[in-house]
Amino acid sequence: MRTALVTGAAGFIGSHLCARLLREGWQTRGLDSFDPYYERRLKERNLAPLLAHERFAFHEADLNRARLAPLLDGADVVFHLAARAGVRSSWGADFDSYVDANIRATQRLLEALSGSHTISRLVFASSSSVYGEAAGGPTGEDAPRRPISPYGMTKLAAEGLVSAYHASCGVPTVALRYFTVYGPGQRPDMAFHRFCRALLLGDEITVFGDGTQTRDFTYVDDVVSATLQAATQGPSGAVYNIGGGSPAAVREVIEMLAHLAGRRARIRFGDPQRGDPRATAADTRRARDELGFRPRVPLEDGLAQMVAWMTELLAEGGGS
Ligand SMILES: NC(=O)c1ccc[n+]([C@@H]2O[C@H](COP(=O)([O-])OP(=O)(O)OC[C@H]3O[C@@H](n4cnc5c(N)ncnc54)[C@H](O)[C@@H]3O)[C@@H](O)[C@H]2O)c1
Repeated sequence: MRTALVTGAAGFIGSHLCARLLREGWQTRGLDSFDPYYERRLKERNLAPLLAHERFAFHEADLNRARLAPLLDGADVVFHLAARAGVRSSWGADFDSYVDANIRATQRLLEALSGSHTISRLVFASSSSVYGEAAGGPTGEDAPRRPISPYGMTKLAAEGLVSAYHASCGVPTVALRYFTVYGPGQRPDMAFHRFCRALLLGDEITVFGDGTQTRDFTYVDDVVSATLQAATQGPSGAVYNIGGGSPAAVREVIEMLAHLAGRRARIRFGDPQRGDPRATAADTRRARDELGFRPRVPLEDGLAQMVAWMTELLAEGGGS
């Protein structure tokens, strides 16, 4: 039986990944510090079904302080998803939290891994934010990395550490640049979470900018599939874009969500947010060829899952 350590296991993507690992027969260790970026209650909700599983062990700990040796002992693959995510709050006073969670914690994990002989792979969750503003057309992995937010800069720095520990210490790494991920459990600061919630409550939706900005939205199950594929495929040291493959404008998404929820959207357009690119689009040919990655969930189906999930969350009295 293979053993995985998942950092950020109580988070949005990390909890979906743990569920898939358990379904596929892995012994799964989850680590999460319950970073206060968003409500602990939502992370506990993500974790609840995992905790009931006999092959899941959860450790509440901060990667910057945890004793890593016992967590890594006997692990075959480490999936490093723990991070302070979110572009908007990475400006200003909170920047230190981004440095701690995204850069220092990654360095500490890599240092521990450089002395480990059991690991066959470290899969690192990077971000499309490392590219900044795309030059037009789908972005390939070799395009210039020019982040336009402090968050993007910290993810790029972490990628740099991953690459250095691969090149100089032989840590077998793969970095995946996820493009805007959505699905049940999405973080409350992210657009689809806010849109679904506002629609179902009959509140006004706030859109930053004019809503014509486009994103390569990626359903969480497709991201999880790519992350698992990267555990065994592709050469060490590789970097891959993971994107849904059909970019859409924010306005279009709101229309689809309103249709699915059977509600009328009332939209207020706010100022564009600094650090948000106008457009993102992933060129995923490398991931297709080397990992066998193929996004399978069309936007409309993924959005239907989100509406169903938010309906449940609101019925429980949550959904902040
Ligand atoms: N959601 C997206 O659209 C997206 C896009 C690109 C990249 N990513 C990357 O994917 C990963 C997961 O993102 P997410 O949206 O699930 O975010 P999330 O905030 O839901 O999950 C991250 C988890 O990491 C934990 N964490 C933070 N600092 C920690 C530390 N020092 N020690 C232990 N745990 C810590 C948090 O408590 C949180 O539960 C992140 O690395 C993020 O940068 C996400």
